[in-house]
Amino acid sequence: MNAQVVLEKIEKIENLPTIPSILRKILGIIEDPKVSLQKISDFVASDPTLTARILKMVNSPVYGFPGRISSVSHAMVILGLNAVKGLLIGVSVFEVMKKNMVGLWEHSLSSAIYARIIATRKNLSSPEEISVAALLHDIGKVILLIAFKEDYEKIIQSVMAKEGFLHELEKEYFGITHAEVGGFVAKKWNFPLKLTEPIMNHHRPQLSKNFELETAIVHFSNILSLSRGIGYSGDIFVNPVNVSVWNVLDFKYEDIKDIFREAEDPITSSQEIFASDE
Ligand SMILES: [Fe+2]
Ligand SMILES: [Fe+2]
Repeated sequence: MNAQVVLEKIEKIENLPTIPSILRKILGIIEDPKVSLQKISDFVASDPTLTARILKMVNSPVYGFPGRISSVSHAMVILGLNAVKGLLIGVSVFEVMKKNMVGLWEHSLSSAIYARIIATRKNLSSPEEISVAALLHDIGKVILLIAFKEDYEKIIQSVMAKEGFLHELEKEYFGITHAEVGGFVAKKWNFPLKLTEPIMNHHRPQLSKNFELETAIVHFSNILSLSRGIGYSGDIFVNPVNVSVWNVLDFKYEDIKDIFREAEDPITSSQEIFASDE
């Protein structure tokens, strides 16, 4: 297969029969470049399950506003349109993730927690937005699974047989990685470059030119989650930290220890909170 063929199929992803109807609707709304805050709020409000999931997420320890956000429009004001759009995707691919790649949700959630903690330490103005990028960093895996289930499962088997890292085997087989696929769909969903670039480059952070720090954070959060052994990402070995990221983040050994420590409670409680979901 080549990248072009893969992207053509992904371009029409919402027409695939395997895509859940709620996700299809969400994608339809998000792809409208002129979509307003009001329209998204109204759409979410019309679906009680979706409303409950969004509120559960924004009030969870993943974000650190526990019990304070009572409505979707309130979440929009506090987190901003892009973060809420990202969460909408995040909470609605949740079921697909749980069904098709057990453990990816936990991997994504914990990456989001590490990213929020690091972004806050680095004084970024919107740590929640970077955290949403981390929550969605492996969305390309879900997309590839939906679009090419059998082929993707074969690739995962090769990873299990220790033939390489998932993103390397994807490149060999599809001519494109889940990171690039994720960047492609994030662009298609009108996410700003601040979110698409970290998703696109989370396995080659040295290529990020506009949002170097944000990309370094998502790259590193993914690795922290892998090395802490939370959930399942498709890989069996921890990806190495890209050298460029050490320079951008400028962390000492103590900083990393603090980040690990700070993330423990939110990770444990968010896993409890989300474990009961269908
Ligand atoms: Fe990845
Ligand atoms: Fe990952």
